[in-house]
Amino acid sequence: MKQLYFPLSLSFPLLILLFQCSKTLVHAQAAAPAPAGPTDVTKILEKAGGFTTLIHLLQTTQVGDRINSWLSDSGQSLTLLAPTDEAFSTLKSGTLNSLTDERKTALILFHVLPTYLPMSQFQTVSNPVRTQAGDNTYYQFPLNVTTSGNSVNISTGINKASVGGTVYTDNQLAVYQVDHVLLPMNIFGPQPPAPPPAPPKPRKKAEAPVAALPVGSSDAVGGAIAALGIAILVVFSL
Ligand SMILES: *[C@@H]1O[C@H](CO)[C@@H](O)[C@H](O)[C@H]1NC(C)=O
Ligand SMILES: *[C@@H]1O[C@H](CO)[C@@H](O)[C@H](O)[C@H]1NC(C)=O
Repeated sequence: MKQLYFPLSLSFPLLILLFQCSKTLVHAQAAAPAPAGPTDVTKILEKAGGFTTLIHLLQTTQVGDRINSWLSDSGQSLTLLAPTDEAFSTLKSGTLNSLTDERKTALILFHVLPTYLPMSQFQTVSNPVRTQAGDNTYYQFPLNVTTSGNSVNISTGINKASVGGTVYTDNQLAVYQVDHVLLPMNIFGPQPPAPPPAPPKPRKKAEAPVAALPVGSSDAVGGAIAALGIAILVVFSL
């Protein structure tokens, strides 16, 4: 059989060699100028003033560092509902001291919403709002927002707070002052009711349950009488 020649194939190694040789080092571009310092939530609160207790808690629970890292490292948007010192002073004395570190952390995370909420957006949130404390079901960490005009209230199932002025906003982080510490159900509320005890297992195979027949209710009788009355009225009015 006649052998086929592919002259082009001979030049392939040469081409590759040329390509490799012509490759030049691409120098990295000069680094962009360093951005302004990353957002520091405790600095923001220090500058605003009146948040000494909150700042202390942000530091001892390290939630402050976590907020800064969510903002800078993860590019996460957040809203902080910041109770003022006055808000903390209305707590029953000993409330904070009675909490374990874990609960203090959860309490502070309960004041952090995982989205940037401009003031005008509070009316659009759907309840219960989720917080960084996690589970927003009833006995856990639910937060309900109610708005009317410019007033925004927040209820936790335990207490209520009003959202006051804007402390800080930059399109990624919003900080609003609130006049009460938001007390989550999980920490300050009743415990969920125990599940009902499991029904005893039948000893032998139970007969198929018979559905209870609906009993003619007095409502139905009342309705019939009313209908009759209306019919009579109609007849008389003709
Ligand atoms: C918020 O709470 C205050 C005080 O309890 C009340 O006067 C106001 O009507 C409430 N506003 C809304 C929007 O619920
Ligand atoms: C929040 O509001 C919903 C109805 O919108 C209600 O069912 C729920 O009990 C409320 N939760 C709290 C904690 O107030």
